[in-house]
Amino acid sequence: MKKNIYISRRNFIRLCGGALLFLGTGCGSLSSETDPVVKTASHALRGITGDIDAKYIRQIITADAAVSRRIMWQSDETEKDAEIEYRSVGSNSSVSLKTTSESFTDDGITCYLHSALLTDLIPGQDYEYRIVSGNSGTPWHAMHSANDGAFKALIFPDSQSNSYDGWQELAQNAAKRNPDAQFFVNMGDLVDNGEDHTQWNAWMGALEGIMDRIPLAPVMGNHETYTLDWKVRLPQAYLHSFDVPDNGSDDFARYYYSFDYGDVHFMVLNTQFDETNDFKPGLLDEELSWFKADAEKSTKKWKIVLMHKDVLTYANHRSPDRKAGIGDIGQDFMPGFDALGIDLVLTAHLHTYRNRGQLYDFRPASHGPFYIITGVAGDVRYPGLWVDHPFDKKIAPQPETDNYLTLEASEAHLLIRCFLPDGSEIDAVEIKK
Ligand SMILES: [Fe+2]
Repeated sequence: MKKNIYISRRNFIRLCGGALLFLGTGCGSLSSETDPVVKTASHALRGITGDIDAKYIRQIITADAAVSRRIMWQSDETEKDAEIEYRSVGSNSSVSLKTTSESFTDDGITCYLHSALLTDLIPGQDYEYRIVSGNSGTPWHAMHSANDGAFKALIFPDSQSNSYDGWQELAQNAAKRNPDAQFFVNMGDLVDNGEDHTQWNAWMGALEGIMDRIPLAPVMGNHETYTLDWKVRLPQAYLHSFDVPDNGSDDFARYYYSFDYGDVHFMVLNTQFDETNDFKPGLLDEELSWFKADAEKSTKKWKIVLMHKDVLTYANHRSPDRKAGIGDIGQDFMPGFDALGIDLVLTAHLHTYRNRGQLYDFRPASHGPFYIITGVAGDVRYPGLWVDHPFDKKIAPQPETDNYLTLEASEAHLLIRCFLPDGSEIDAVEIKK
């Protein structure tokens, strides 16, 4: 994957790119963040007479969701001439982008991964896009650029599953109940086995009608690093499948990243230090340094951290020696969360929903970051395993089923609500400042 290049005079370019869509004039090829792609001037819509091999079409969050969007998809054939064609809804002209085509072999299967970065979008605008090659193409898919105002997002905890039917039902029902959600997060452990292509296909297939329409902000979990024989490797399938912003690292590109949506700065951390250390040491030190600098330079009102493994340790009924407390990850990151004014920390990994309220200096407090472990969205459950933590304020009904959350952000507040699969609310948290 090529690194994005940011060109100065960004606002001018953004305006010019937007004008291409609306005026249909030839402003030349413009791109403020460039892949090895060529954007053509606005042109009349082409006639589509056939289908194209394009599977698992997905939008991926970009560093600034107001002005750019990543589109990815897969094919069995090279489809090296494929382009993304996009337009403002209702426009009779469009812009085309040539796209990358990368052969990727994993789990004995070769596919072609395609990626295109749409730039110069106008904030708060309804677009639509399709994948075309010659006179073949897909139907139009909806796309909406962020603006500076309020928004809602869907948050899904670990979706790793034996059967992804339940994941599909949960995600699809959550999306139907929240048609105004503008993007969605999966909190890591998307799949049970990160090398198993059938699981990736099942995970992606379950999201048809969602991930093509609203962007995904994925969080890497430990299961993304597992091999078919349950050893550990670098998370090849995850890294190839999700071309997230490359704004975090030189040595761990796209393992962690940050993005802006509305008036929120999201920092997506990577907690796979143990899993990566034997192959690629240095993740923790590099990330701690990056995280501080990234948080300090953001001017957004709200700062939210998304990370897979939790900051606390929970005692459990199977391991009597395991005590409740602050985990190594908490020891490493919580002082920084306190110092940097993080408003909300969402975690996962333990497959249980627990609201721990605000913690500061490792203790419950009336100020400091609000900590929620988000639950489970797949069918791997741990009934009766966890002993309640002294910091727990609200726990999902036991034994736990799957669940999802919504996050609503505005000038006034952050509102986080947790729902069971039938849509009944089990917790709501409002954060003001
Ligand atoms: Fe996990």
